[in-house]
Amino acid sequence: MSKTIFSIFIFLVAVNLVPTVHGKKLVPCFFVFGDSLVDNGNNNDRDTVANANFLPYGIDYPNGPTGRFTNGRNVADFIAEALGFTDHIPSFATAKGGDAVVNGTNYASGSAGILNGTGKEFGDVISLDEQLQNHQTTITRSTSMFGSAHVAKTHLGQCIYYVGMGSNDYAAYTMNPDRPSPDHYASLLIDNYSRQLRELYGYGARKVAVFGLGAIGCVPATHHVYGTLCMSATKTMSGVFNTKLRSLINVLNQDLDGAKFTYIDTFGIAASKTTSFRYPDLECCTVNVGGTCIPQGVACRDRAYFAYFDGYHPTEAAAAVLAKRAFAARSPSDAYPFDIQHLVQV
Ligand SMILES: *[C@@H]1O[C@H](CO)[C@@H](O)[C@H](O)[C@H]1NC(C)=O
Ligand SMILES: *[C@@H]1O[C@H](CO)[C@@H](O)[C@H](O)[C@H]1NC(C)=O
Ligand SMILES: *[C@@H]1O[C@H](CO)[C@@H](O)[C@H](O)[C@H]1NC(C)=O
Repeated sequence: MSKTIFSIFIFLVAVNLVPTVHGKKLVPCFFVFGDSLVDNGNNNDRDTVANANFLPYGIDYPNGPTGRFTNGRNVADFIAEALGFTDHIPSFATAKGGDAVVNGTNYASGSAGILNGTGKEFGDVISLDEQLQNHQTTITRSTSMFGSAHVAKTHLGQCIYYVGMGSNDYAAYTMNPDRPSPDHYASLLIDNYSRQLRELYGYGARKVAVFGLGAIGCVPATHHVYGTLCMSATKTMSGVFNTKLRSLINVLNQDLDGAKFTYIDTFGIAASKTTSFRYPDLECCTVNVGGTCIPQGVACRDRAYFAYFDGYHPTEAAAAVLAKRAFAARSPSDAYPFDIQHLVQV
C-alpha cells in the first residue's frame, strides 16, 4: 500500500514541479570557465592524462563517470541547480551548434591554468585563453540563432559566469626550479587574469563570480608527497594571489561599465568546511603516487564524511558546501561584494 501512495506522490510531484521549475530558472544561462574543480568531461577525448572518466570517479553521479573529478556533482552542478536549471550545463566538448548558448556551456579543463603553458606536461589541456576562444566560437554560432549581435549580447549580459583558475598555475610554479619570486609570480598571474576577465566582459559577460584559490598546499596529496599536512609556503602564496584577486575585482567593477564581478572566498569557506567533516584531510579513494584515484580502484563507503575524494578534489559533499555559501553567503566575507543570488538580481 505504501508503495502505491509513494508512486502517486511521485507522480503528483512530477506533474506539478516540471512547469514550476522551468519557470523558476533565475537566469537564462550559466557559463563555466575553470579547471578540474568544475570540468565535466572536456578532457575526455583529448590527448591528456588529466582524465577522470572512469570509476570510482562518478560513483554517485546519476550517469556514472563523466569526466568530473569527484564522486558526484561538482560545484558548477550545484550552482546550476541553485539557479533553477533542471539539467547540468553541458560541456563544450558535447555542446554543438548555436544551442550551446541557450542554457550555457562548460569550458573547464582539468590541469589547465591562467597561463598557456600550465598543465601541458599532462597533455593537451585547455588553458583559460583557449577556453575564451571556445566561448567566442559559441557566440559566433549563437549570433545567427538570435538574429543579431545586439540581441545575443543582451542575452549574454543576463547570464551568470563562473570563473575559477590558478591552482594548477601554482602546481606548475612549485615544480619550476627557475621560479620567479612569489610576489612577481602572483602579479604575472593577476595581470593575465585581468586581461582575460576583461576579454570575457568584451564578449558580453556582466555577472561574473570569480572563485579564489582554495587550500592548495594543504590537500591530502601534500601529505603523501611532502609528509606534511600543509605546505606553509604554498599556503602563503595562494594568500598573496587571493588578496590581489580581491583587489582586481574592485578595479574591474570601477573600470568596466555595468560590470558586476564578485569574489568568492573559496579558501575561507574551505577552512571552516573541513572542520565540519569527520575526515577533513584524508582522501576517500585509493590513489596513485600522483594523488588521483586508481582506475577501477576502491572508494570509501561513507563518502559524505570525507572532505576530499582523491588527493586534490573535494567530494560532492564538500562541493555542496562551497556552492551553497557562494550562492547564499553565510558570512559577509564568503562572497564580496555579492553572493550569487544577489548577482542574479543586480
Ligand atoms: C535547456 O534546458 C532545458 C531544461 O533545463 C532543456 O529542456 C532544454 O533542452 C535545454 N536546451 C538546450 C539547447 O540544451
Ligand atoms: C596563449 O595562447 C593564445 C592562443 O591559444 C594566444 O592568443 C595568447 O596570446 C597566448 N597568451 C600568452 C600570454 O602567450
Ligand atoms: C602573462 O604571462 C606571461 C607568461 O606566460 C608573461 O610573460 C606576461 O608578462 C604576462 N602578461 C601580463 C600582462 O602580465
